[in-house]
Amino acid sequence: MCGIVGYIGTKKACPILINGLLRLEYRGYDSAGISTIEDGYVSLMKNKGRVMNLYDLEGIDDLNGSIGIAHTRWATHGKPCKENSHPHMDNSNTFSVVHNGIIENYNELRDFLTKEGYSFRSQTDTEVIPNLIHYYINQDTQKDTMAFLRAVQKTCNAMQGSFAIEVISSLYPDNMIVVRKDSPLVIGKGKREFYICSDIPAILSFTRDFYLLNDYEYVLLSRDEAKFYDKELAPITKELKNIEWDASSADKDGFEDYMLKEIFEQPKSIRETIGAKLKSNEAIAFEDLSLSKDYLTSLHKIYIIACGTAMHAGLGTKALFEKFCHIPTEVDIASEFRYRDPLIDDKTLCIYISQSGETADTIAAVKLAKSKGAKTLAVSNVIGSSITREADYCIYTHAGPEIAVASTKAYTAQLVLLSLLALYMAEVLQENSNSEIENIKQELLLLPTKIEEILKNTKPVQDFAKKIYKESDMFFLGRGVDYAVALEGSLKLKEISYIHSEAYAAGELKHGPIALIENGVTVISMITNPDLAAKTISNIQEVITRGAKTMVVTNQELENKGFDFIYTIPKTHPMLSPVLSVVPLQLLSYYISKEKGLDVDKPRNLAKSVTVE
Ligand code: F6R
Repeated sequence: MCGIVGYIGTKKACPILINGLLRLEYRGYDSAGISTIEDGYVSLMKNKGRVMNLYDLEGIDDLNGSIGIAHTRWATHGKPCKENSHPHMDNSNTFSVVHNGIIENYNELRDFLTKEGYSFRSQTDTEVIPNLIHYYINQDTQKDTMAFLRAVQKTCNAMQGSFAIEVISSLYPDNMIVVRKDSPLVIGKGKREFYICSDIPAILSFTRDFYLLNDYEYVLLSRDEAKFYDKELAPITKELKNIEWDASSADKDGFEDYMLKEIFEQPKSIRETIGAKLKSNEAIAFEDLSLSKDYLTSLHKIYIIACGTAMHAGLGTKALFEKFCHIPTEVDIASEFRYRDPLIDDKTLCIYISQSGETADTIAAVKLAKSKGAKTLAVSNVIGSSITREADYCIYTHAGPEIAVASTKAYTAQLVLLSLLALYMAEVLQENSNSEIENIKQELLLLPTKIEEILKNTKPVQDFAKKIYKESDMFFLGRGVDYAVALEGSLKLKEISYIHSEAYAAGELKHGPIALIENGVTVISMITNPDLAAKTISNIQEVITRGAKTMVVTNQELENKGFDFIYTIPKTHPMLSPVLSVVPLQLLSYYISKEKGLDVDKPRNLAKSVTVE
């Protein structure tokens, strides 16, 4: 989705802004632009296409201003073109604005402004913002910086929807105003300078000290100071937070693509996610979470709510909550959950999974559950993200910044963290004999080393990718947690290779999809639970008979009954197997995408964080 960068300080803003935009490229965008405050005027440089193309624009090298705003746009209102790119300026070219989010009532605001004599150059919702600011400042008898702030405040009060905005003006050449509502925006602090961004990795190489903004908190920035105000413009103080991620974790570190780097980072991200929560022979402890036995005993239901890969992490761990906490657990898609009036109350615990912490549907689902009296618990990878501030409780995966659009290390970290959460709750409830829980805890600690083993053996997966990359249809099969992994494997393949694929619970095959199996179709199956192995093997025989090529990912000693490729992974507790079995599937998608010559990290039509519905 769209990205925002801003700079106010003593250095030349333009290169800093473009560098920040380049670091946001992974989020997906179709156009880019920047505005800086020059001597007596606000510059505007924007175009359709890549961020690097900004350097081709005439005059860009002459920008010397040390205050500026920048944007990568992912089209929502109006097609991708120069006119619709951000920044947008008011009719008098005095105010320049970049905006993430959607202004739902922009038609009304446009009509209002049109009646007031304003005209519009673009089809965007954003263009109403600089014009409204201009309108309100003209109504104000004062012209000091507080008048500027009041004009932005009145503009925000007039808007419905979501927004993160940066505003600069030739009338206030030493200031910038920023504000957010339901769309991320943070402020990094340097020495006599501030960096603003919608996504921390964009400015990680400049600072690790950040102010995290809540909805409707206004910031009036000068080179020396960030002044914070609440919705009513009463001054407030904000705490500076240090973010642990280092700049190199947002680089490729010698890998060809972010996705491959992130696949290889999984042992580390799992170790860091387990951290101090799990130690041999001790009960699991979460630093920031304490759920009482009384509260857990009162629960009638757990919902796990998320989108896409994060939802698959819920499916991969649901059984642990049911088996060890004895609480019925349902996994739901956030965009469905929020619109179907689910049966929840104070005896329901709603767990939300969101790598970015900014997914619009997941955040809306948190608000819904809270309004019905349920407690909400967020699992996120981004400290201070919107979901972590919305939910009652919050626990973090420590996967570091995930840059590739296709999620890999965040997914396995989510699986591990949710497994820890389920076992932690079970231990608080003291429901079960502990021997199996103890066994799973030991196995959790061994997962990073077992992933390392898999990552030493990528060549066979790469070779198989070479055999099948030209195909147009693939199927993924599994039973139990292997089905959850089948869904994730299929999603990864679709996302980055553009090959059509479907995932089925292996037992469902005969109920329809088998009609599609013929020569040339590849079927990829997971077999990790010895109790279900024979059943899945029978299903694979059925597709082999019908001409399918087959790959089997297993931790069992299987007799090769005509499979084209068996990939063996280390054994673990069956309920943890998704953490291992997904790795060859991630690699397979990666290598297929590379064979096809595609952009692995920035697949078409996709954005890293989906901040609109
Ligand atoms: C797929 C992928 C997406 C995300 C989904 C939710 O590789 O990354 O399916 O999992 O958009 O995103 P978050 O976890 O940020 O809420």
